[in-house]
Amino acid sequence: MSLKDKLEVLKNETSKKIQAAADLATLNQIRVETLGKKGPITEVLRGMKDLSAEERPKVGAFANEIRDYLTAAVETKKTELEQAVMDKALAEEAIDVTLPGRQVPVGGRHVLTQILEEIEDIFVGMGYQVIEGNEVESDHYNFERMNLPKDHPARDMQDTFYISEETLIRTHTSPVQARVMEKHDFSKGPLRMISPGKVFRRDTDDATHSHQFHQIEGLVVDKNVTMADLKGTLEVMMQKMFGADRKIRLRPSYFPFTEPSVEVDVSCFKCGGAGCNVCKYTGWIEILGAGMVHPDVLSMSGIDPEEYSGFAFGIGPDRVAMLRYGVNDIRSFYQNDVRFLSQFKGE
Ligand code: DAH
Repeated sequence: MSLKDKLEVLKNETSKKIQAAADLATLNQIRVETLGKKGPITEVLRGMKDLSAEERPKVGAFANEIRDYLTAAVETKKTELEQAVMDKALAEEAIDVTLPGRQVPVGGRHVLTQILEEIEDIFVGMGYQVIEGNEVESDHYNFERMNLPKDHPARDMQDTFYISEETLIRTHTSPVQARVMEKHDFSKGPLRMISPGKVFRRDTDDATHSHQFHQIEGLVVDKNVTMADLKGTLEVMMQKMFGADRKIRLRPSYFPFTEPSVEVDVSCFKCGGAGCNVCKYTGWIEILGAGMVHPDVLSMSGIDPEEYSGFAFGIGPDRVAMLRYGVNDIRSFYQNDVRFLSQFKGE
């Protein structure tokens, strides 16, 4: 075989190997073996000295041509393989945007806040104002103006935390009555307000007592307000809260700031009055205290009891929530255990 033919065979075989190289390492090996110092082309070029002066430039040119051809083929293949490596890496590292996102936990309103807002809505719908009172209150408004002078025995049930002799954290929302009455301008219309908020007592906490709980005070004062207005108002409230079939009943009671005073029961929302564990088999649930505003309470606030009359009520939203949701320990509302609270997420 002539030198030229040998070179031709070498070109063809090496080209095939280059094409077939599966990775950069193999390709590099082919390059070293064919084009390197110990490779066949270098060898041919070295053997040129034995050729005739006539043949030497032709074979030399042909060998150079083949070397350049194969060098270019290696370069092309190298680029191709590098691109493949890159494509593979990119494909493997790609971010999968179809993965579901991480949930950010969203909080909800506290169950008691939900009850307060629900009751506020009912009364706002009946034209009442919602008034915010003071949690730190004076003895004067908390007791004296509610007809509970210093030596009054009913103060015993409402012992609280004193900041000073005359300043305390309120035991009920009733002092808001006095604060609103003394400011009200009857030339602008009747007084209709509710006042929700926290109250405090020096109680030993147990399943039904908490040293902090909530009340919603209600007060209406105008000319000719009667007990029938009180009854009708409370009935509407109970029907909106516990269902359209609810009835209420009033039982005589005593509060220093109302005369007459009543305890209000609602027919059981669970059994409808037949008797069950919620109503303790009586058919009725004791739900709030109310009454006609005591004439002395009116006059202490500068309102003439001969001309004006009013009714008032106080409801415990904690108890409403306990009844409605079957919560058997009031302390659950104040312990901030998410496992409890997250059951009342609301909408
Ligand atoms: N303030 C009373 C209490 O804490 C609740 C109450 C009863 C409020 C009768 C009233 C009412 O306005 O008329 O026990």
